[in-house]
Amino acid sequence: MAEASAAARAGELRRLIAHHDHRYHVLDDPEIPDAQYDRLVRELQELESRSPELITPDSPTQRVGAAPLAAFDEVRHALPMLSLGNAFDEQELLDFDRRARERLQRDEICYTAETKLDGLAISLRYEHGVLVRGATRGDGSHGEDVTANVRTIKAIPVQLDARAVPTVLEVRGEVYMSLAGFERLNAQQREAGGKEFANPRNAAAGGLRQLDARITATRPLTIYCYGLGEVDGAAVPDTQYERLQWLGELGFRISPLAQRVRGAGGCLEYYHAIGKRRDTLGYAIDGCVFKVDAIVDQQVLGQVARAPRWAVAFKFPAEEQLTRLLGIDVQVGRTGTLTPVARLEPVKVGGVTVTNATLHNQDEIDRKDVRVGDSVAVRRAGDVIPEVVRVVDDGAHAERPRFDLLAAVRGACPVCGSHAERAEGESAVRCSGGLFCAAQRREALWHFASRRAMDIEGLGEKLIEQLVARDLVRSPADLYGLDVQTLAGLERMGEKSASNLVAAIASSRQTTLARFVHALGIRDVGEATALALAQWFGDLDPLMQASDELLMQVPDVGPVVAAHVRGFFSEPRNRDVIEALRRHGVRWPCGEPASTASAAPAAPRPLDGKNVVLTGSLSIPREEARARLLALGAKVSGSVSKKTDFVLAGADAGSKLDKAQALEVPVVDEAWLASIEAG
Ligand code: IVH
Repeated sequence: MAEASAAARAGELRRLIAHHDHRYHVLDDPEIPDAQYDRLVRELQELESRSPELITPDSPTQRVGAAPLAAFDEVRHALPMLSLGNAFDEQELLDFDRRARERLQRDEICYTAETKLDGLAISLRYEHGVLVRGATRGDGSHGEDVTANVRTIKAIPVQLDARAVPTVLEVRGEVYMSLAGFERLNAQQREAGGKEFANPRNAAAGGLRQLDARITATRPLTIYCYGLGEVDGAAVPDTQYERLQWLGELGFRISPLAQRVRGAGGCLEYYHAIGKRRDTLGYAIDGCVFKVDAIVDQQVLGQVARAPRWAVAFKFPAEEQLTRLLGIDVQVGRTGTLTPVARLEPVKVGGVTVTNATLHNQDEIDRKDVRVGDSVAVRRAGDVIPEVVRVVDDGAHAERPRFDLLAAVRGACPVCGSHAERAEGESAVRCSGGLFCAAQRREALWHFASRRAMDIEGLGEKLIEQLVARDLVRSPADLYGLDVQTLAGLERMGEKSASNLVAAIASSRQTTLARFVHALGIRDVGEATALALAQWFGDLDPLMQASDELLMQVPDVGPVVAAHVRGFFSEPRNRDVIEALRRHGVRWPCGEPASTASAAPAAPRPLDGKNVVLTGSLSIPREEARARLLALGAKVSGSVSKKTDFVLAGADAGSKLDKAQALEVPVVDEAWLASIEAG
């Protein structure tokens, strides 16, 4: 095909595909069978692969998703994305309407009534009809740039197909997932052993906020548009209702349920009518939104804080369904709390199949008197995890045995088998396994590494998750045995960041006693208590041996904290970890600061300010040697000069060694490095 005609055909195909995308994804009214559509896409793909110069950013073939990002950029919204005030009952809706009428000095107000979609707000920016940016709401003034992800959503036009498009057009809407799409996605996740989403809203948010847009492209996301942001170069209709129609004409997907209604009476009628249809819509809504229709009136009413005085959300009450309680499982949370979870006969609540619901804790079970086998009412409210609301007696309730959580687990953590107990006056039952419980390990490591504890820069949650999942780290002591090679093999870790992390881990070995005690994660021993203990005892050994009486002499330490501290140090597994940490060189050479632990001065390090050059082959990887030198305070440079303090030479060292000798720079070996580390 000649170049010009190939370009013309590509243009034609793009228009055709965009047209059919609009018919299918926006209007839900396809004109051609799927197979015919697929042929058009294939033809365009072939043309573009033969002549890549024909690819345009708005080509439908570019919807597949761009390469992963490291992080989302921040976007400032030209006009803030507002939130909505809520009316919780009919009276509050009537009050809202009365206030608006008083301010506008009007007897009756015309509203646009809409459904409140349960998804994620998005702002789409078009310049000269081309989609240039998609951004999440964020805090309303700044959101995240999710342009690559938004491009993969077929119901969002990448190019507006209208005669007169505005120079700038910002459209606001809700990205959501249909209930069918949600169930399908969860079934796929289940099969692949992945994480299931609690509700369509979380699934939509998870899909839209993917750093890898190729994943977003596989998620069944769609949109309803409901408003405008900045607009330039177009006459914009002056009512909300007409604005919705205008958006529809420009090619955006708008809800067919939007209606003009008169006064609060019209709003309530709409609310009840939608409430009746709610289960048949095929997507989740959590209420209705009423917007003063005339834009001039909206301007008169203005806004308070981040919510307009011209709009209100009236939420539906959380839906309840009856089902049967098949059993009660006990899960262990990240902080060691044992949570009873109801296993239910599957039931649809708010369009989502519920099979589990939280029972919170023993007190809640007692209060509701929930027993295995009971018929129970289950509720799901928006984002919230489903919960068992109450027992509905089927006549046999009294014959069933009461449920006792501690007895059900026989006093032991179901994950690690450690002793589980319910402290006096508390409703939670906890596992005492701490670090030794796989359920708590991540949390304990994260706390250990956190800024106000051992302050290991670069050891974030994601990394800890990987280290624990691959069983590379079981206790904090294992962190000090990690090498560059192992770390560089983890996801999102390069050689450089791995070596920085090894250096950060190594340099955390010099700490203060207060930080170290805080890092151990002893229950109820926060930063301030750790500091008080460190100041009182001066070193770890006397603290480890202290009796309750001695501990209680420390300011702010009462019998409960004393018992936790003594209990922690008398546990042989904890003593072993402490020993291992000491063997790895963790020590506290600095005194404690007088008042605050966070102001601890950096400890002086043996090679502070010394220039070291590495040469020859060492028994350890070069990166590791570098990291260890950095941790001792040295600067590591590539070439030998008069400023070099030491040359660390391995076998077969070449010209750098010669130069060191010529300049009379001291030459040292690996044993020297180890001896400095040993102090
Ligand atoms: S209008 C000026 N209309 O609700 C008010 N919001 O609680 C701006 N939402 O962040 C929002 N459906 O995510 C509006 N028909 C609708 C909506 C809607 C869902 C969400 C939106 C917004 C949140 C505010």
